[in-house]
Amino acid sequence: MTKNRISDKASQFTESVIREMTRLAIQHGAINLSQGFPDFAAPQVLKQAAADAVFADINQYAITWGAKKFRDALAAKTKRFLGLEIDPEREVTVCCGSTEGMIDVLLAVINPGDEVIVFEPFYENYGPDAIISGATPRFVQLRRPGWTFDEAELEAAFNNNTKAIIINTPNNPTGKVFTREELEVIARLCRKWDVLAITDEIYEHIIYDGTTHVSPITLDGMRERTIVVNGMSKTFSVTGWRVGYIIAPPTITGAIRKMHDFMTVGAPAPLQEAGAVAMALPDSYYVELATHYQARRDRLLAMLRRAGFDALVPKGAYYIMCDVGSFLESGGFANDIEFCRFLVKDVGVAAVPGSSFFREPSAGRDLIRFTFCKKESTLAAAEERLSRLSNVLPGAASGSRVGI
Ligand SMILES: Cc1ncc(COP(=O)(O)O)c(C=O)c1O
Repeated sequence: MTKNRISDKASQFTESVIREMTRLAIQHGAINLSQGFPDFAAPQVLKQAAADAVFADINQYAITWGAKKFRDALAAKTKRFLGLEIDPEREVTVCCGSTEGMIDVLLAVINPGDEVIVFEPFYENYGPDAIISGATPRFVQLRRPGWTFDEAELEAAFNNNTKAIIINTPNNPTGKVFTREELEVIARLCRKWDVLAITDEIYEHIIYDGTTHVSPITLDGMRERTIVVNGMSKTFSVTGWRVGYIIAPPTITGAIRKMHDFMTVGAPAPLQEAGAVAMALPDSYYVELATHYQARRDRLLAMLRRAGFDALVPKGAYYIMCDVGSFLESGGFANDIEFCRFLVKDVGVAAVPGSSFFREPSAGRDLIRFTFCKKESTLAAAEERLSRLSNVLPGAASGSRVGI
């Protein structure tokens, strides 16, 4: 008799499509506008603080739920930006990136049969997160062009089995920033059905056009039912540091800390020291961050449009979704995946197939996502390649391949 060596859970999801696109980009020497990691330097002051911490021999386990200095700094920053007093001793857990944070939270609150509402398109990790934690996801559509949801559809998704709703604002992949009014609707339903709001706010400071980020935890009656998942990756351009954090009411924090402790013990100790420095950066840091990204957003928008893409304007985060329906039709591509493979191999630019953000791949078959968290030279190289797209599309008159 042979036994199945792979668990049912592991068999239910595939590897990350986004990371696969990064690998293909390397293989084909393409400009990688797929995975959301900056290719420019992290702030000098943070690198110095991390190096100083290593040399000061802060090289052993930190307190499992986070170095005190970092938790205190997180509480101070939360007070500064959200006007909220949180107790760093009982309401904060530091973890290995918000990726660990999300799974810790779900493992801490989900029982078999519990439903979790997820807006679709969704950040691809939420699918496997639901499977790993045993949650049953209930999807609610965000619809183009504004990525709005239908209140009645959302209301219908809530029931007695609903344990939580995941809200990612600013949103990956759509760039949507949930408005206060939309969040009030969600909050009303959370209160009515006694549901937890798990909010992924990793792009909280990356917002454009004067848009404001509203954290659901600040809304009436939400303080005791909101779990904020956040991290240093995006705000401080240090995706490889793997430092994230969770803010939750004390009882839930107790459960989260147990999951975290036995999963990873703790986040990197010297980098938490640097995290404390990061949290104390002045307001101007955040203004510059948003200004820097808005210029890159406008740059990528312009070049995509020049290359013939139907690009949707994001209000936050650092991605641009494009409707590629017309390219599929004119180039004879079956779907987004085929088109992305063509882009990476024949044009030399990597993007993410939109279907990876949907439960039913067909729902995203005419979408692809580009990121603009890249330095000017990277964007310029992508621009040069994209400008030749129309010449290399199957059926184009010249038909010459771009040299990559
Ligand atoms: C919405 C969202 N949440 C979480 C993450 C992962 O963040 P971290 O590096 O903190 O694990 C990402 C990364 O792309 C993201 O887009």
